[in-house]
Amino acid sequence: EKSGYDHYMLKEIHEQPRALRQTISGRIDADAGTVDIEVDLPAEYIDSIEEIQIVACGTSNYAGRYAAELLESVVDVRTTVEVASEYEFDGGRDPWRTLVVAVTQSGETADTLSAIRRAKRAGARTLAVTNTLGSTIVRETDDSVFIRAGPEIGVAATKTFASQVATLTLLAVHVGRARGSLSYGWARELLESVRKLPNAVQGVLDREDRVREVAREYADSDAFFFVGRKLGHPVALEGALKLKEISYDHAEGFAAGELKHGPLALVTEDTPVLALLTDGSRPTETLNNVKEVQARGAPVIGAATADGDGEAAADSTYLDVELPVPVTGALEPLVANVYWQLFAYHVADEKGRPIDRPRNLAKSVTVE
Ligand code: F6R
Repeated sequence: EKSGYDHYMLKEIHEQPRALRQTISGRIDADAGTVDIEVDLPAEYIDSIEEIQIVACGTSNYAGRYAAELLESVVDVRTTVEVASEYEFDGGRDPWRTLVVAVTQSGETADTLSAIRRAKRAGARTLAVTNTLGSTIVRETDDSVFIRAGPEIGVAATKTFASQVATLTLLAVHVGRARGSLSYGWARELLESVRKLPNAVQGVLDREDRVREVAREYADSDAFFFVGRKLGHPVALEGALKLKEISYDHAEGFAAGELKHGPLALVTEDTPVLALLTDGSRPTETLNNVKEVQARGAPVIGAATADGDGEAAADSTYLDVELPVPVTGALEPLVANVYWQLFAYHVADEKGRPIDRPRNLAKSVTVE
């Protein structure tokens, strides 16, 4: 049931604080700096891992990219992310020392299943991060971790992205602590932040009216560009995917620094640029790119953290929205993503699109 919301997508966007509470419930001991995600990866195995390979499609792939940034910075394990349909186990890798992680909401995506089968044939250990108990991926992988977001009906993935990133953050802390590469202090800080996520996301949801206003103002634009650096990059990709899926508008996401290497040619006063300016996404550098597009007349919609490094940056953008409840830089782009979800929803709603069932798309893609 839609519980009073016009669409499942909007209901699910608003369910994120609850979904995140479920995701983390009972899994965090912030004082001890430890995590229990009910996964049976022996300490000796974790120690021996030389590379983590994440395979996933669409939104789950972007959650994987977010996690890979975190894994490389906080855990110091080489981590690759591949679109599942492109994945091949590289014969140069030692399969015993490679952990292949499939991120999939449904657990039934054919491309992801087939990537996991390739990894298994090569002899790698496999782990599923999924929302769906009893799904095919759970049966086919060595271990699984559940994101516990609850059922998602809207075709566009929203709350499951947040819960995927939260779960992968817990996995990163678990692996980092087990390997001794993540300090106690940093682990505590990250876990405290994971604990604050539900309230931080609620803070963004409470500003929906403002986002709706902005979305209505720009709904008729020619195209939309989303930019961000570091952890803001996967969020930019996700923001653009959400908007194109449900509004049918042309939207693209870039690493902010790439704008000047080509896409800038498309920027005009009719192409809003949505910029991630939170901590964790190098806001001051991104501001330079913001200035480049502003000089060409493009309206900039920036999201930054109240009192964070990016606030000054956001203040100088044409429109700014803030993250009312700060979390550590590593998770701020995830919180800001909720702005882009609401933005996509309200642009699509303004256009009267069938938001829960966009044309040509299915919730779970069971063909390769
Ligand atoms: C985007 C979306 C798709 C899925 C992709 C993977 O809103 O829903 O891009 O993320 O098809 O699906 P799962 O996660 O079920 O493997």
